[in-house]
Amino acid sequence: MSDMLSQSLPKHVAIIMDGNGRWARQQGKPRWRGHQAGADAAGKIIQAAIDQHVDVLSLFAFSSENWCRPEEEVNYLMKLLLHMLKTQVKELHKKNVALYVAGDLSQFSAQICAHIKKAEALTCANTGLKLIVAVNYGGQWDIVQAAQRIAEQVATGVLTLDQVDEKLFSQYLVLSNISHPDLLIRTSGEQRISNFFLWQLAYAELYFTPILWPDFDEKAFQKALDEYAKRHRRFGGRM
Ligand code: IPE
Ligand code: IPE
Ligand code: MG
Repeated sequence: MSDMLSQSLPKHVAIIMDGNGRWARQQGKPRWRGHQAGADAAGKIIQAAIDQHVDVLSLFAFSSENWCRPEEEVNYLMKLLLHMLKTQVKELHKKNVALYVAGDLSQFSAQICAHIKKAEALTCANTGLKLIVAVNYGGQWDIVQAAQRIAEQVATGVLTLDQVDEKLFSQYLVLSNISHPDLLIRTSGEQRISNFFLWQLAYAELYFTPILWPDFDEKAFQKALDEYAKRHRRFGGRM
């Protein structure tokens, strides 16, 4: 790939997959059908990211605030997560994808945790797309858990206060060894971050589309990449 091309391609694309419920409502279907269609869309976009040679794809699948939805919906989403882990991991492994699940796993069932561990162990040496699935993830949680672990190390004398800078802090966040997102896509027309990667999105290019997540396809993904290629990133510097 030429330098020109590689520079205009985001290394890390993060997506807030929003609009499943509205998609279902539009189709006169129950909400769970929207989530099911959303899971299919995720599969398509994972393949599109592989085809486009994106290095890292992060998908926001369940936020730390999504527990406040009706029990029936949360239960369905948990069932869907387990189903995806049981049925899709082999396929991802065949595609050389390295899967990493980001979020507070302490609230998940032992069964889900075991499948996550197994999937990560199976795929961790893969050299293709790095796929991060954010579940029970909150940007504020991420920052607090990092602060707690750093505070503990300062209290026990492992770290000194003046060692705590942006670089060190970054290493305690869930994406410690992964470059931060270059492009954030949010579907469904909402223009907010909804507690996704707060720290990591500091200099991401933001792309909002009215397309509802289940309708977001390879063409829509390509359009977002094309838009990214036209942006001028400055990181606080000058043109
Ligand atoms: C995104 O779709 C999926 C999750 C947050 C789990 P929504 O369920 O938020 O769909 P809308 O926003 O209500 O349409
Ligand atoms: C963000 O969508 C979380 C995910 C897509 C997983 P929400 O639907 O939860 O966000 P709000 O409530 O509209 O901000
Ligand atoms: Mg939503």
